[in-house]
Amino acid sequence: MGELATLSHGDTSKPLSGSQMTDREKLVLDSGSAILISNGLIKKISQEDELIAEFVPDFFDGKSDLIKLVDINAKAVIPGLVDCHTHLLWSGDRSNEMSMRQNGLSYQDISIQGGGIHKTVEATRKTSKEELSSIGRMRIKQASRNGTTTMETKSGYGLSLESEVKLLETIPEIGNSNCNLLSTWLGAHDFPRGKTREEYIDELINKQLPHIYERKLAKWVDVFCEPGWFSIEETETIVKASKELGLKSRLHVDEFVDSNGLSLAAELGSCSADHVGFSNLESRAKAHKSGTMQVFLPGTPYVLGKDLGDGVRECIDNNWNFSLATDFNPNCQTLSLPFVASLATHRLGIDPLAALVACSRNPASTLSSEMKLDVGSIYEGGPADMNILRSNNIDYWCQTPGLSPIDKTIFSGSIV
Ligand code: NIG
Ligand code: FE
Repeated sequence: MGELATLSHGDTSKPLSGSQMTDREKLVLDSGSAILISNGLIKKISQEDELIAEFVPDFFDGKSDLIKLVDINAKAVIPGLVDCHTHLLWSGDRSNEMSMRQNGLSYQDISIQGGGIHKTVEATRKTSKEELSSIGRMRIKQASRNGTTTMETKSGYGLSLESEVKLLETIPEIGNSNCNLLSTWLGAHDFPRGKTREEYIDELINKQLPHIYERKLAKWVDVFCEPGWFSIEETETIVKASKELGLKSRLHVDEFVDSNGLSLAAELGSCSADHVGFSNLESRAKAHKSGTMQVFLPGTPYVLGKDLGDGVRECIDNNWNFSLATDFNPNCQTLSLPFVASLATHRLGIDPLAALVACSRNPASTLSSEMKLDVGSIYEGGPADMNILRSNNIDYWCQTPGLSPIDKTIFSGSIV
């Protein structure tokens, strides 16, 4: 094979930061390696000729039928990609919001006028489980085509016990043989029509949360913490109630303004704080210290016509952990991490290898408590989740915006 980005230096359950993310000597093997896969796991990584001599000595005599040799023609290999923030399941169409934005309306204005999350909730509530499953399967296919092998996905377009549960029950049904799928409950995505804030917070804590917890419908809780949506105090109440049950959090914070959401996430011990576009430096340092991953979602400011911000650069310069994710949602309809990484490299000046770490090993570290084996890197004994690129250079992985750079995806040892 060509270059092999193992990204497995050190403890594979831990993220990398700053210059560790671009340390090619530790993270990338030169061309000429080979990988032995057995029962969905990586058995051995070594030089091509050594591996063949050890495991298939009679291979070149054409005698071996025990092992299948796949020649990938010097193509580069990277880990299966890990998308740690998606809103996969919803129905409806909000493409009309683009011209509303171009006419000067903000995300908040559009929501007040009946668009935004509420419009998607209305459509999603009317959609059957079967239809949502088929929408979800189609979307997973798109993610797979772009190299994703592990994905976190949120409810949040139900905003009632019944419809939040419908979404969360659908997720494991579509988690198929192409991708690991892990669920987050985002009942606190917005306030439903016809209920006061107090009534809905009461429903979240006393009806939705216990139900979701008892039926183990989600691994994490999420709250859209932003002025106009859930306040710092409301977010704290919901996260604390979840924590009491042992449910950890990953939060939407500081997307439009700095409301100290990242600082709160750090104090609450959240696994991740996502968006974080407007968070201040003090909060970023605090999050790094407390082990809260900052997850940047540059696709969202990109589609909303906003600046991508300086946060990613600030994290790199200060050796703070960060990840990148798609935030697939009705506005930001991309399930391509290579595209998101293209924004990071072509627009923010991030090294392609650092962007790769931010789309694989680092986000995987926020999910690792719920995985049997560490994903996001390539190591002996690990899951055989990886991508063969259309190039022999790993940097190619994020340089084909609009096209997938992936030739083949291998999930759990099988070609997807
Ligand atoms: O992460 N900001 C909150 N939630 C989603 C978008 C929701 C929507 O507009 O439907 C996000 O960007
Ligand atoms: Fe989101």
